[in-house]
Amino acid sequence: MSFTAVQHRAWLSEQDCDLDSFRTLVERTADLADYPHALAVERNVLLYDAERVLAAGRRDVQAELVRALTDGPGVVVFRGAFPDRVVVERATEVFDSLIREQYAAGTTAGDHFAKPGANERVWNALEKAALYDPAAFADYYANPVLALVCEAWLGPGYQVTSQVNVVNPGGLAQTVHRDYHLGFLSDEAAAAYPSHVHRLSPVLTLQGAVAHCDMPVESGPTLYLPFSQAYEPGYLAWRRPEFQAYFKERHVQLPLGKGDAVFFNPALFHAAGTNRTPDVRRMANLLQVSSAFGRAMETVDREAVANAVYPVLLRRKAEGADEAWLENVIAASAEGYPFPTNLDSDPPVDGLAPPSQADLVREALREGRPARILRDQLRVAGERRAS
Ligand SMILES: [Fe+2]
Repeated sequence: MSFTAVQHRAWLSEQDCDLDSFRTLVERTADLADYPHALAVERNVLLYDAERVLAAGRRDVQAELVRALTDGPGVVVFRGAFPDRVVVERATEVFDSLIREQYAAGTTAGDHFAKPGANERVWNALEKAALYDPAAFADYYANPVLALVCEAWLGPGYQVTSQVNVVNPGGLAQTVHRDYHLGFLSDEAAAAYPSHVHRLSPVLTLQGAVAHCDMPVESGPTLYLPFSQAYEPGYLAWRRPEFQAYFKERHVQLPLGKGDAVFFNPALFHAAGTNRTPDVRRMANLLQVSSAFGRAMETVDREAVANAVYPVLLRRKAEGADEAWLENVIAASAEGYPFPTNLDSDPPVDGLAPPSQADLVREALREGRPARILRDQLRVAGERRAS
């Protein structure tokens, strides 16, 4: 059965998973000429130079990224995405402090795709980092590459979540998988969703990772199978032994430098690699970014995050931080979407939607309101939303 014919089925089943059609799809070579903003194609993965991308026309670059993530390799690497080592190192220190606190508190974090304890994990690191060190948080999330690619894939109002993952020497590879949402369901549960939902799920999330140390291939940076995101029955295929065996044979892996970032379509077949080094504590900040229209994997108390970070925004604005810097931090921290709400108590004032939390933070910053005023406004707005 051809891929096009599969696309028209209302529901997908195991019988649609056919390794030969999968191979036809993925055994292609990305051509650098199709991606004029890219620096190189390495092992079928597109490499971008962060500085060069930021200097180019925003919409042109974003259109190219959408193409790369949809019909192209499905994975893009930005060299030097976080060019300031101090910013990355301060965030690393915050993550390490959070890990130490977890150990001290005796809380061990479980993992979906690896044995508990093999890795160190910080779940909801977005909220934890913002409350732990708001200034380090703001400097990190002001990142323009992150904002560029999130906006390209998800549009405005995207919601960032972050999960820190440390794979210690000897830490084993994950099994191949796809990511949230359908990637977290059993085959049976995933098959209960119609095929158009299988096509929808990947456009509601963007998956990313920031390297917090140099990651030579021996340290086990993520394994990818470029072009596999386009395989429509893929959410039902990744557990099948013939697909797992094919992934083992055909995956690619690229070294990353500290401060590089990789973003991929959540439907891409991928898995973290084995850390074969004696001494590299492989730390990545995994970014799972959700469309305003989808719900994120984690509950984040964004009111607490906005309150923690706002004084930093006021200070940086006074010190001359530009509009885009401030906006990137707001986009990565506050709720950018005004729904769901209670339309009796929270009616739209100008237009069709009431102000979002991010709108309130923006307005407060524009007016130079003190933190306690914004705190009250956010609380009142939160209460108005409740049913
Ligand atoms: Fe994953």
